[in-house]
Amino acid sequence: MVETGAETRKTTQKTQKNMYKVFVTRRIPQEGLDLLSGAGLGLESFADDNPISRQELLEKVAGRDGLLCLLSERIDKELMDAAGSLRVIANYAVGYDNIDVAEATRRGIIVTNTPGVLTVATAEMAWALLFSIARRVVEADRLMRQTKGFRGWEPMLLLGEDVSGKTLGIVGAGRIGQAMARMSRGFDMRVLYFSRSVKEDFQKETGAQKVDLDTLLRESDFVSLHVPLMPETHHLIGQRELSLMKNTACLINTARGPVVDEKALVDALRGKTIAGAGLDVYEEEPRLAPGLTELDNVVLAPHLGSATVEARRNMSTMAAENMIAGLRGERPENTVNPEVFKATGR
Ligand code: DGY
Repeated sequence: MVETGAETRKTTQKTQKNMYKVFVTRRIPQEGLDLLSGAGLGLESFADDNPISRQELLEKVAGRDGLLCLLSERIDKELMDAAGSLRVIANYAVGYDNIDVAEATRRGIIVTNTPGVLTVATAEMAWALLFSIARRVVEADRLMRQTKGFRGWEPMLLLGEDVSGKTLGIVGAGRIGQAMARMSRGFDMRVLYFSRSVKEDFQKETGAQKVDLDTLLRESDFVSLHVPLMPETHHLIGQRELSLMKNTACLINTARGPVVDEKALVDALRGKTIAGAGLDVYEEEPRLAPGLTELDNVVLAPHLGSATVEARRNMSTMAAENMIAGLRGERPENTVNPEVFKATGR
C-alpha cells in the first residue's frame, strides 16, 4: 500500500533498482494506487488533500517515468524539463487543457485522460445546477436557516420557473453534452445543439436539432456548456453572446471556466439581462470574478462535476491503467496524442 494519509508525512516512497518511478500529485481513491503498486511500479504519492506547490511538484517530478496529475496542475515545458525523462503523463480528468500536449508529443511522452467514466456524473451535476437555479433551491435553503425565515406557505414566495417543456441548448455535443440531452427526455424538452459536426445517431435518439450558436442562444431557456477548452472556445460566451440570450434564460457551465468571459457574465447577471447561472467551473480557479458571490441569481459549486464516489473510483483505476500500459510500452486506451507512437516508431 502506498497511500498513508499520514498528516505528518506527506509522501511515501518505494524504491527498487530499475523499477519505473511514478509520482501521483494528490490523494486519489485507493483503487488506482493499488493497481500501480500491484504492477510493480516505484510509487510516490503526495498523500495530502491540499495542492502540491509548483516548486515541490518541480522537485518531486525529477527522475520520474510517469506522472499521474490533476487538471489544476500546469504540465508544461518547464515541468517536463524538470522531470528529465518522463514517458507517461496520466491526467486524472477527461479535460487536458492543463497539459502542453504538443510539447509532450515532441518529446515522445504519452498523454492520457479519463473519458467516459465521469460522463453521467458531470451531466447529473449540470442538471443539479439547472434545477437549483430554476427552482431557487439555494436561496430557499438560505431562507430556511434564518430565524423566522419560513413563515409558512406563501403564494408569492421564491417563484422559480418551470423546466419541463422548455428549450435546452447544448453547446458541445460530446459525451457529456449528449448525456445531458438524453436526461432531458423525462422533462419533455425541445433540444437544440451546437457542435462542429452533425451527430446523426444523437439526433435520431433525442430529436435534438443542430443549430448555429447564435440561434441556440436566442431560442434556449437553458444553455448548458460542454465544450473542451481550446483556443477556439476561450470566451466562446462573452458579452455579445450573453446579450443574445433571453432575459428569462439561465446559463449552466460544467465545462471549463475560461469558456465564459466571467466578468461579462457578472455584468449580465447583475443587470438581469439573463435570469441566472449555475457554475461549477471558473476562469481562474480557485479565484472567482469580483462580484460573483454577491449575486443571488447564481448558484456556485467548487468544480464538482465528476465528484461522485463511483466516478472518482473509476477515474482512479482508469488513470492507473493508462499509466501501466504506457510504461509497459503498450498503447494506453485513452491516449490523447496517438501521434506520439508514429513519431517515436513505437
Ligand atoms: C474533468 O475530468 O475534466 C473534470 O473537469 C474534472 O472532474
